Amino acid sequence: MHSEYHQRRQTVLNTIGEGVAIFCSAPTAVMHNDVDYLYRQDSNFFYLTGFNEPGAVMVLTGSHDKHKFVLFVRPKDLEKETWSGVRAGVEVAKKKYGADEAYPISQLEEQLDQYVIKSPRLYYHFGIDNAFNHRIIQLWQKLLRQRTKKGTGPVAIEDAQLLMQQFRRIKSSYELDKIRRAIAISVDAHNLAREMARPGMYEYEIQAAIENVFRQAGALGPAYPSIVAGGENACILHYVENNQQLQEGDLLLIDAGCAYDYYNADITRTFPVGETYSEEQKILYDLVLEAQLAAIKQVKAGKPFNEFHDAATRVITAGLVELGLLRGEVDKLIEEKKHKAFFMHGTGHFLGLDVHDAGILRNGDKTWKPFEVGNIVTVEPGIYISPHYKPADPEEGKKEDPQPEVEVRWKGIGIRIEDDVLVTATGNEVLTTAVPKAFGRSAKQLAISH
Ligand code: GLY
Ligand code: MN
Ligand code: MN
Repeated sequence: MHSEYHQRRQTVLNTIGEGVAIFCSAPTAVMHNDVDYLYRQDSNFFYLTGFNEPGAVMVLTGSHDKHKFVLFVRPKDLEKETWSGVRAGVEVAKKKYGADEAYPISQLEEQLDQYVIKSPRLYYHFGIDNAFNHRIIQLWQKLLRQRTKKGTGPVAIEDAQLLMQQFRRIKSSYELDKIRRAIAISVDAHNLAREMARPGMYEYEIQAAIENVFRQAGALGPAYPSIVAGGENACILHYVENNQQLQEGDLLLIDAGCAYDYYNADITRTFPVGETYSEEQKILYDLVLEAQLAAIKQVKAGKPFNEFHDAATRVITAGLVELGLLRGEVDKLIEEKKHKAFFMHGTGHFLGLDVHDAGILRNGDKTWKPFEVGNIVTVEPGIYISPHYKPADPEEGKKEDPQPEVEVRWKGIGIRIEDDVLVTATGNEVLTTAVPKAFGRSAKQLAISH
């Protein structure tokens, strides 16, 4: 494990040459009064160190003779540790985390200069910690003032998040193992949820069962707030209240995944709560599934990142036209983004230390970057027919091409199917196949999955 972090830092050092990169740990966040939210380290910081304490700064520098990797950490303090947990401290920062040198964070001001003064380029991401952003600006101004006299020091700042995206986009086998574990736990949770869901239950009961599986298996908890949305609640994309009673005839959309050792799973399934479901639910489900399978086929090394979304959009738009929910010519509808009335989000995102993981999607000339072996991406098209749906009023003078009213039998249906897909040398591997995705819940229906 140690060598994994060492390897990652080495890759960054090889890339920045004589430059220096500074990363700040995630700030703590107040939940209420003097109680904080559970601490979650910044993903870049964690990626490079495995160190999960607040109040820390890391420096990677190519311009210091002896120290390439320096950590500033909270010092040991037994009294404080009695209240809020063990701190690694300076010695452990070196021994366990592999820092060439470590200091108490209080020495940042006086020690930092020696690590940046000879570097022509500073890598830093101006993030959410404004106090620290300000310190970097002050450092930068000081170095610039000195530069005319000393002749060295950074003349440019580059974004450290952009720097990291290129590395984090490709998952190592170590990372893949972690993500497979997060997925395996999340799969168990989804399968349990599908088996237990019944009309009359509350959404939070299902949520509780899912999150119980997460913690029982040693996961840190949900990777993002679990969405357990019965009936028309599924038309709210980030529905997290999870406080309604499930009804016979409802579909249940569950979007839930756990974080295991900081790596995430992200899975969505939609299925009938009871024994009955409507023809409209079945038809729309099959359409989303067809779109999802078409999109998965486009997840391959060399394929530009936009093509899987285009594939899903095409299937969904054509299907909605056939069903009379959209009117017009498919290409034109897509061009005018009319499908967004029912499919308003993207088809997927990279997955890793962040649920919406790092990874640049476009080149400077706006062309899309291709998938590469080692990418993990979610594939998650959906159709959501809001109970409040009304076709937009056609603008004055353009009355010739209005969209149709939608019959009430279609309204309040929300469906998403989300898998996590690894790009391999020979195509792709769907990592989440162990949660069935055929429509319905009976053994026979489940047996025809995929
Ligand atoms: N669960 C968040 C997402 O699907 O992107
Ligand atoms: Mn999701
Ligand atoms: Mn997702």
